[in-house]
Order: sequence, then C-alpha cells, then structure tokens
Amino acid sequence: MSSTQSIAAKLVRVDSTTNMAKKAPSTTRGYREDLSEMPDWMKKKKCPNRDKYLSGARILPKNIKGKEKLADLIDETFLAYNGARLREGCQLFTQKMLEPDVTIGMSLSGALTPAGLGCSAIVPLIKAGFVDWIVATGANLYHDLHFALNYPVRAGSFKMDDTELRDNDIVRVYDVLLGYSDCLMATDEILRGILVQPEFQKEMGTAELHYLLGRYAAEWERKAGLKDVSVLAAAYRAGVPCYTSSPGDSTIGMNVAGVELRGNKLRINPSIDVNETTAYVLAAKRSGGRSGVVLWGGGSPKNFMLQTEPQIQEVLRIKEYGQDFFLQVTDARPDTGGLSGATPSEAVSWGKVDPNRLPDAVVCYTDTTIAMPLLTHYALSRHAPRPHRRLYDQRRAMMQALTREYFAHNKVKMLDGSTPQFD
Ligand SMILES: NC(=O)c1ccc[n+]([C@@H]2O[C@H](COP(=O)([O-])OP(=O)(O)OC[C@H]3O[C@@H](n4cnc5c(N)ncnc54)[C@H](O)[C@@H]3O)[C@@H](O)[C@H]2O)c1
Repeated sequence: MSSTQSIAAKLVRVDSTTNMAKKAPSTTRGYREDLSEMPDWMKKKKCPNRDKYLSGARILPKNIKGKEKLADLIDETFLAYNGARLREGCQLFTQKMLEPDVTIGMSLSGALTPAGLGCSAIVPLIKAGFVDWIVATGANLYHDLHFALNYPVRAGSFKMDDTELRDNDIVRVYDVLLGYSDCLMATDEILRGILVQPEFQKEMGTAELHYLLGRYAAEWERKAGLKDVSVLAAAYRAGVPCYTSSPGDSTIGMNVAGVELRGNKLRINPSIDVNETTAYVLAAKRSGGRSGVVLWGGGSPKNFMLQTEPQIQEVLRIKEYGQDFFLQVTDARPDTGGLSGATPSEAVSWGKVDPNRLPDAVVCYTDTTIAMPLLTHYALSRHAPRPHRRLYDQRRAMMQALTREYFAHNKVKMLDGSTPQFD
C-alpha cells in the first residue's frame, strides 16, 4: 500500500445517518488516527467488549458555516441528547415510517394551531400524504377554524397583564393573542349556525363531524382567498379522518352542547371513533402493511391513538402484536406515571407497541413548537409525497372487516339474537 493510500484508509468520518464509520468523501472533516498523543501502553490495553461499546460514530462535526441545508444540519450536528433524539425521529419518520405500506396516525395535543403550526406544518404533512389519520384535542381543531375564517391570531407576549387584556376583549394562549368578540365569539356564532344544518341532525363520530366542518372550512378558505391555512380543510380535501378523544372538552363540544338545548339532533358517539380508529390499525396489518404513530405532546389524543391495539387484542380478542413505529415529542416525564410521559417500552406491556419493534421507537423531550417544523422540513426535503390513503372514504369497508374478524374470533352473538351484518 502506498503512503497516500495508507493515509486515505485512515481518514474516517462520522456518518450520522447510519452511525457507522465510512470512508470520507472530500467534503467531510478528516483526521489521522495514528497521530494522536496517546502513549503506546494505552493503545495496547485490551478489554473484551471495548470495541463493541465504542463502535458508534465519532463525534467530530464540521464547523457550521451558515450555508448548510436544514436537513443536513440536523443529520450532521444533532449528535447527542434530545438533539440526537430529534435527528433519530426525523430519520425514523422519513426513512422507515414513510414507506408505502405504513399507515401513519398522528396525535396533536397542546396549543399547536394557535401557534400557527396548522398552517406551517400539519397542512403540508397532510398534503404530502405523510399522515393518514389524526387524533387531536378539540382545541386544536376549534382554533383552526379562526384561520379558515380569516380571523387574525396575533403574536403577543407572555408578560402581558391579563386583567388589562380582559378589559380589552382579548384572550391569551401564552404569547398568542385572540380577539374575544371578533375571533372567539364570532367563530362560535358561525359554528352554531353550521351545527344546526340538516346534515348534522343525526348520530355520528367525530371523523364525520370534522369532515362536515372541513367542507365549510375549505369553502371559507376559498372565499377569503387563503390557501392551505386550515387543518380541517386540508384533511377534508385529502380524506384524512380527524378524531377528537374528548368531544365535549373544547369550544366545538361546548357549541354542540349549546345547540342541543334548542333541540338540535346532533349526537356524538365516541364508540364510533374507538372502533373506526381500531379498524384502520387492523386494516393496515391485515393488508400485510405496518402501522406507526407520531405523537405530538401527550394527553388523551396520545392514548386514544395507542389504545387501538389493546382494543384489538384485549377487548375484541383478535390476535395482534402492537404498533410497528412509535415517535413521540413531549415535555412529560415518565416517572409521574401519567400517560403523557409513558415510554414506548411501557406501552409494550400493554400490547400497544410490538416488542420486536422497540428499536424503531423514539422519544424526544423537547417543545413540539420546535420539533414539528424541523421534522416537517426534513421529511418534505428528503421524501417524495405519498398518495393519499383516503381512510375517510374507507371507514365503512374497514369497519366491516373489523366486525367480521371480531365475530370470527369470538363465540358471541348479536344481543338481539339476529345474524351479524357485515355489509
Ligand atoms: N377553547 C378550547 O376549545 C380549548 C382551549 C384549550 C384547551 N382545551 C381543551 O383542554 C384539553 C387539554 O388540551 P391541551 O391543549 O391543554 O393539552 P395539554 O396541554 O394537556 O397537552 C397534553 C400533554 O402534552 C404535552 N405537551 C403540551 N404542549 C406541549 C409542547 N408544546 N411541547 C411538548 N409537549 C407538550 C404535555 O406533556 C401535556 O401534559 C383538550 O381536551 C382541549 O381540547 C380547549
């Protein structure tokens, strides 16, 4: 081997995508292993498992120059702690979860749409086919309506005097401000006018409720000359079913209850939601595909999304193994016992996550308002759009398949003695 070849062979680089050392292309930082100041006796020291533990990528990133692409910056400089978890989350999502056979559920907690993340991130994820079904807090979908209606939501400050804000007809979500009368109450007024329309006069699940609202949201967007600002409108167009885990716990639920006092016939049935969401996960598995969850924050949307597997296994007694992919961004700790901070390995014990798939589980402890735009950019820059799965249109067929399998696995009859109907 020539001396040039021998030096080249010793040039290695950090490959943060695969965590393996590779031969360096010219753009990466090179170094000479043989030129360290380490004494010879230390180099000779042998320990049985040392090489195994130290087989990870060397942490030696290039200097940041200000010209890097964002996705490259994440790959090359998010190397430890929650930065590394965020990089791993971006890579898991983009390289594995976006495979064509993976059905992706996304849960949304915390005040994301008031912070503008509906427009900036969630709508693009829906449009790109990177999310197939959603469970959100009602608040996220309610505040989404202001954007569709062209009612301004404005930046404020968490230091503002709330008594003064109240006197000035303004409400505050930390450092975001909304008009009380001309945004909140105006949205409520319009919402009530919609909820009493004929198509709402029946029992339904929240996917149908939000789909019907999404049709109005899409129309308001169009009239206002706005494009792609509303999650509900984007989900309506893409056939992405949107659920809420606590239908009464938001201003949408409050207005549903308000018009019920006047004899409105709309009745939300949460059992429809439980079974439909379960049917998506079962359908993903039975088609030979896989199922994954992206959990933004914790709260009841996280559980509602994850309880689909226990519903299959524990309640419907159908043999199944758990989610294939788990990605969560949260601020919640696991040691309080709350579900918001519960880890994927704890979820294994409940059958929510397949134990064989734990390597494909990432939890990043950070603020979703930081992580969501970064992951969205990373995925859009590194992965082509996927065709929309349009689960909303397949609810009936998937529910029939779930029901058929339920009766096949259980010696049960219809409670009234009739033959179960699958079609
Ligand atoms: N006007 C409304 O309709 C309205 C307004 C606010 C809340 N609500 C209702 O209150 C309930 C609670 O909603 P919520 O939005 O307060 O959820 P939440 O704040 O309880 O979120 C659940 C968990 O997610 C995590 N989380 C929240 N924000 C995060 C962030 N930025 N980064 C990382 N992790 C984060 C936290 O661990 C939190 O415990 C919902 O049912 C909601 O609909 C309604």
